[in-house]
Amino acid sequence: MSAPRLGNPNLGLGVGLRTTHFRHILETNPAVDWFEIISENFMDSQGRPRHVLEQIAAKYPVVMHGVSLSIGSTDPLDFEYLRKLRDLARVVKPKWISDHLCWTGVASRNTHDLLPIPYNRQTLKHVIERVRIVSDFLERPLVLENPSTYVTFRHSTMDEWTFMSEMAEEADCGLLLDVNNVYVSSFNHDMDPLEFVENLPHRRIVQFHLAGHSNYTTHLIDTHDSRVIDPVWELYRLAHRLTGGVSTLLEWDASIPPFEVVHDEVKKAKHYMTEKLPGYRESVTTFDEGGREKAPHPLHHVVAEVE
Ligand SMILES: [Fe+2]
Repeated sequence: MSAPRLGNPNLGLGVGLRTTHFRHILETNPAVDWFEIISENFMDSQGRPRHVLEQIAAKYPVVMHGVSLSIGSTDPLDFEYLRKLRDLARVVKPKWISDHLCWTGVASRNTHDLLPIPYNRQTLKHVIERVRIVSDFLERPLVLENPSTYVTFRHSTMDEWTFMSEMAEEADCGLLLDVNNVYVSSFNHDMDPLEFVENLPHRRIVQFHLAGHSNYTTHLIDTHDSRVIDPVWELYRLAHRLTGGVSTLLEWDASIPPFEVVHDEVKKAKHYMTEKLPGYRESVTTFDEGGREKAPHPLHHVVAEVE
């Protein structure tokens, strides 16, 4: 059996590093536990962003998170991209390297979208082979995140969590559980978010993501532009309990507020690192047959939360 988190440390509560906060971080050295970077923002840059990153990486633990690996694509793996990723890792010395269980393009075209894959045996075999190759190349286990999705495939024959579980075990990789993505995809596809979280191999979960999303009543979009809503926090409570606690990261990528607001938001996670009585099932939002939230009101998330 694998060690919890594949032997990776629990880094605590971190924040996604964004250029708008560079000056604040350098000048104030905020007491944040760790940072996650978007790898592609620094791979081709030798300018100021790279210089700032090297200063931050000297003071804080850093994790590298990519958006272009395209592990699910039928295109050959891009070894030029992987070489740049490995070169950046040699400088930044990240605790781990992650990307998404998705594809981003085909025929050498990058859509810059995290596109869903069909969950079936054929895709699973394909992804497992590629994860093994990438992990060997990067000289460390790859960590893969569940994406937010908006369509499903007729060719899918298994649940997303079953696919991720078998992939992680067979390819010997880690999982980045984006709790908000579980919630968004579950709403959009009428899945049970609790079943999703309950049925993953919890020892392989290396990291959590939290974020805000936008509710369009009939569907949710993963916009990363607002606070985390209460039902997602309750799902986090369950994930925390089942894993025993792993590194937790807040993503905020649009309408980005001052650093302290982002940092305060992720610190709310401390309130959810406890059991809630009478039971988590009662405290997490479920969906009716039409896929609509039974509670809270769909516009709940636009109401400013005050601690
Ligand atoms: Fe995420």
